[in-house]
Amino acid sequence: MALKLNPNAPFLRSHNLSPSALPAMANNLSLRSPKFFIASTLRSGSKVVENGRKPFMPPREVHVQVTHSMPPQKIEIFKSMEQWAEENILVHLKPVEKCWQPQDFLPDPATDEFEEQVKELRERAKEIPDDYFVVLIGDMITEEALPTYQTMLNTLDGVRDETGASLTSWGIWTRAWTAEENRHGDLLNKYLYLSGRVDMKQIEKSIQYLIGSGMDPRTENNPYLGFIYTSFQERATFISHGNTARLAKEYGDLKLAQICGTIASDEKRHETAYTKIVEKLFEIDPDGTVLAFADMMKKKISMPAHLMYDGKDDNLFENFSGVAQRLGVYTAKDYADIVEFLVGRWRIEELSGLSGEGRKAQDYVCGLPPRIRKLEERAQGRAKEARSIPFSWIHDRQVMI
Ligand SMILES: [Fe+2]
Ligand SMILES: [Fe+2]
Repeated sequence: MALKLNPNAPFLRSHNLSPSALPAMANNLSLRSPKFFIASTLRSGSKVVENGRKPFMPPREVHVQVTHSMPPQKIEIFKSMEQWAEENILVHLKPVEKCWQPQDFLPDPATDEFEEQVKELRERAKEIPDDYFVVLIGDMITEEALPTYQTMLNTLDGVRDETGASLTSWGIWTRAWTAEENRHGDLLNKYLYLSGRVDMKQIEKSIQYLIGSGMDPRTENNPYLGFIYTSFQERATFISHGNTARLAKEYGDLKLAQICGTIASDEKRHETAYTKIVEKLFEIDPDGTVLAFADMMKKKISMPAHLMYDGKDDNLFENFSGVAQRLGVYTAKDYADIVEFLVGRWRIEELSGLSGEGRKAQDYVCGLPPRIRKLEERAQGRAKEARSIPFSWIHDRQVMI
């Protein structure tokens, strides 16, 4: 991994990190296991808090932050896609009156049956193991950091919502997408609160930390990179919510299975929209789009909640991901499958008329899924020591990772 640590780099200035911390951090980097499905993060650990410096800041990324990498003339491409987006993308939104709401899946506090329904929900939750709750909580926290994702979309040149009420197709999409997504965290949060199985205060703290730290998807204000990232992410969340639905069913909780499955189907609809945008970009600008795809894949897709923190565990995201991997909710294999799916979805192999660079990028992404799988098999082959880790989200009960 080539990471140039330049003490004048903007991230160092903005985060007030001393250059003397760099050797230790670089060292830390080389010791990290090659988890290719997780962003490479460097953590300064608990020292940040111990030194009394900005205790609201959890461990953070130190990627060099690149901005506005799309040539300004390409903004016109997105302006010219306005009408197309109205006819082809906005149709994937659901009218509010036809949308489900969290209340459709939860005990109704306005009825006499409320207490009985809560009791039943809690009885069913008793049958569900702790490790499942850790994964569901991590998924919920990820959904609850929605302000970060709306912000991320509004960093993208040419498609951002310039006013907060912009009437462009892009602005309309981003607001309505956010409004649909907002139901996901809301529903899971209320379910977990009622289940009585979790430490809500620790969870709420984790959400506050996560929104405060943002994310570093490395999309560079570039809508090519941004929409490739969201295509990947919507499919990743579709897969993981689908798997929590499947497991809930196995534990005999059909209501929870329905909750997770319903969220998964929203994610699928969003995946369809974002992959269509990128498909259109391939039509208009195949060279630029394949270069963007290869660039995003080289940088690896970091998960939206990769900066997760609960005030205690510096490796919270890795630990949560470890449980998700062990339960089969979201795995390194899923990462490879998503890359393979996108290569097929955008028919990368059939692209023609590319520049030399474009052809290189094409070869790179087409060869990527088998390469990721091989790496994954090798990692699986190495004997991993099973460990138990306490999670504050479930009152420090231990879970195997
Ligand atoms: Fe979601
Ligand atoms: Fe989503």
